[in-house]
Amino acid sequence: MQHFLDITDFSRADLEDLLQLAVELKREHFAGGNRPVLRGKVLAMVFQKPSLRTRVSFDMGMRHLGGDALYLSPAEIGLGKRESVADVARVLSGYCQAIMARVFQHEHILQLAQYASVPVINGLSDASHPCQALADVLTIQEKFGKVEGLTVTFVGDGNNVARSLMQACVILGANFRIATPPGYEMAESDLENARKFATAGATVSAFIDPIPAVENADVLYTDVWTSMGQEAETAQRLQVFPPYQLNSALVSHASRDAQVLHCLPAHRGEEITDEVADGRHSWLFPQAENRMHAQKAVLHQLLAN
Ligand code: CP
Ligand code: NVA
Repeated sequence: MQHFLDITDFSRADLEDLLQLAVELKREHFAGGNRPVLRGKVLAMVFQKPSLRTRVSFDMGMRHLGGDALYLSPAEIGLGKRESVADVARVLSGYCQAIMARVFQHEHILQLAQYASVPVINGLSDASHPCQALADVLTIQEKFGKVEGLTVTFVGDGNNVARSLMQACVILGANFRIATPPGYEMAESDLENARKFATAGATVSAFIDPIPAVENADVLYTDVWTSMGQEAETAQRLQVFPPYQLNSALVSHASRDAQVLHCLPAHRGEEITDEVADGRHSWLFPQAENRMHAQKAVLHQLLAN
């Protein structure tokens, strides 16, 4: 493994290896601590947008594995503005052993990987959020003991989080459904592309009506209606998205033991109600914690040998 840029760069066997390693590292962490396999290694963390989970889970993950992490805020680097993306990649490669970046344009992740001589990790772009998806399938696997054969439904915006989740689900053999308002669909080309990666006969289906999408689903997932960088569209989106709120009425159509996930941060009262976020179906906080355990597996694969 050279970089961690997108879920579709990995086969089912690769993802299963990462999940297995995440499970082992999580067990080791709670049984006295991880071995310091990344001693002397530093992860540069470049952020063009705010973060709680990504920043803290990578920082703590590096510390637990004996390494260190360096936070670079949006104000400091000016990726592609103060300095070209290629030059940032070259310079950081001389100081640090890996680069994690959260960017606006996915193209910038690809450029970092092209010009860095160290591994690059995508910490969210406008196109994808593969670290989130890896933690999501780890969380699903912990509850159900498997991912294959389950039905995972995403309700809301056809965004970066939905795209990576779809890819991880179908590669691991889970059926993926998505319900979006008209105008906010996942591109047909993305759905088609995901179908090419499906294993075990996993299907991908898109809906406008959220109720049939949620019917008997094992996992329900939502995310904010307005992603970072789309703030100017907030008022417009608030008019369109309310029928897609994950509330008790919608959850009642899913399987009795459905698991509710949300990548967080949540806008409670918008895409998810308190009742659902804090209710018996919610796995939001184990899911958030799993960001750290899943990413330790990525860091281990990229840096430990
Ligand atoms: N889910 C997620 O990536 O959270 P942050 O934006 O807080 O990192
Ligand atoms: N779709 C959201 C996810 C935040 C973790 C965004 O891009 O802002």
